Amino acid sequence: MEQTSGRRAFLTRGLAAVATATWMKSAFADSCPVLTPPQTQGPFYPGEREFGQDIDLTQVPGSPRRAIGEVIYVKGRVVDHLCRPVVNANVEIWQACASGRYNNPKDPNSAPLDPDFRYWAQTYSNRKGEYMFKTIIPGVYPADDQWDRPPHIHFRVAKTGYRDLVTQMYFKDHPLNDLDLILQNIPGEQREAVVVNFADSLPGFEPNTKTGFFEIVLR
Ligand SMILES: [Fe+2]
Repeated sequence: MEQTSGRRAFLTRGLAAVATATWMKSAFADSCPVLTPPQTQGPFYPGEREFGQDIDLTQVPGSPRRAIGEVIYVKGRVVDHLCRPVVNANVEIWQACASGRYNNPKDPNSAPLDPDFRYWAQTYSNRKGEYMFKTIIPGVYPADDQWDRPPHIHFRVAKTGYRDLVTQMYFKDHPLNDLDLILQNIPGEQREAVVVNFADSLPGFEPNTKTGFFEIVLR
């Protein structure tokens, strides 16, 4: 009898432990994604050039025209591995314009530059770890004769006490994603973390734009 109740207690404790582990796993899965995987910086990082702190890349100061391309908002949070906000993290982005050209002398692409597009920007995460940029969906560009890169935005995120992160964000369901050597080189769960779904922007944002949420998890 005593042996049976002892065994039952053991089983109950075991089940409780499994339930707790399952809960923790699902809680983390729901609220805190995997660490954002690093990816190559590529050759077109603006480097020492002034990043500025205007988060709107669709408008060049003094120009009456708008950048070519579909306007999007990229919003997100910078968090640590326990999902705690990382405050005042420096978030830099750089990308191609709608034609697929970087504003960088190293870019061999003959596609035209867009003089009304700002190709890079930086910001700092707020008290909740949040950041935002307004930009356009970058164009496809050739990495070599047989490889076109899908639209992507380069990110560099830095904060004292954390490992600097250089990565790239992609657009969900773009047909070139499945063929991209850089994206496909990332293991499954981490790969999903850098592919973002863009949906119609909420009221309060510019009409006929889309917004995507890119959570950045620093180590
Ligand atoms: Fe790129």
